[in-house]
Amino acid sequence: MRQKIVAGNWKMNKNMEDGQALTSEIVNMVGDELRDDVKIVLCPPFVYLTALKGIVKENKHISLGAQNCNEHASGAYTGEIAAPMLTAIGVQYVILGHSERRELFGESNELLAKKINIALEHSLTPIFCCGEPLQIREQNTQEDYVGKQIQAGLFHLSPEAFSKIVVAYEPIWAIGTGKTASTDQAQEMHATIRKQITEKYGEDIANNTAILYGGSVKPDNAEELFSCMDVDGGLVGGASLKSRDFVDIAKAFQSSR
Ligand code: PGA
Repeated sequence: MRQKIVAGNWKMNKNMEDGQALTSEIVNMVGDELRDDVKIVLCPPFVYLTALKGIVKENKHISLGAQNCNEHASGAYTGEIAAPMLTAIGVQYVILGHSERRELFGESNELLAKKINIALEHSLTPIFCCGEPLQIREQNTQEDYVGKQIQAGLFHLSPEAFSKIVVAYEPIWAIGTGKTASTDQAQEMHATIRKQITEKYGEDIANNTAILYGGSVKPDNAEELFSCMDVDGGLVGGASLKSRDFVDIAKAFQSSR
C-alpha cells in the first residue's frame, strides 16, 4: 500500500509566532479529523524546525520536512544547511529539486542527484520534485522532459535506496498561478512517471512509490485530484499557510480512495 502524503511547503513565509500558531492549529485538528493512513509533512523555513518539533512532538500523523539541504555533510559552505543537521533535530523529510530551486538558484539534475544521496545517507526521505515549464507543455514534450529529470536525479539509486523516495510532480505553469492541471493531465503524467519507475525498478517498487501532485492544490480541487489512481497526495504551497484549508486538503482522501 502506498503512503498517502500531504506536504505543506511554506516557502519563505510566516514569522515564528504565526508559524507556531499554524502548527498548533493543525496538530489540534488532525487527531480527530484525519484518516489513519494519511501523513502530513510540514516544511517550514529551517529556522522554525526546532520550535515546531516541540509542538508536533511524536504525532503519528505529522512529520517535519526541510525545503532543501546542501549536497555535503559538513564543511566550509557559508550559509548552507547539511542533511545530518536536519536529522539531528528530528526532521524526517526534505524537499529536493523544487522548481524554484532549479530556476532561481540554478540547481541542476546533477547537483540534485548528490543532494538525494546525502539526504538518504542521513535517513531523510527526499521529496523529489519534477515538472515541466509552460513551453514544454505547449510543445507536448512533457513526458520526455520529466522523464529526463527523474532519470538524472534518481535512477542512479539502488532499488533499496529508490524505495525510500517520494516523487512530486509539479507542472511549473500550475505553481502559484491558480491554474491546476486537470485530473486527466495529472493522472496521465503520474502514470507515465510510474511506468518509468516500473521499467527501471520493477512493479513492486513502482507500485509502492508515492507520487504527489503539486500546483495550486486547494480544498475544492483536492478530492478530484486525489481520486486519480496514480495520485498519492499533494505538495501544497499557498493553501498550506491556512490551517483549515491545509487540513481540508488532507481530508480529501476521506471520501476518495
Ligand atoms: P502552490 O505551490 O500550491 O502555491 O501552487 C506548490 C509548490 O510550489 O510546491
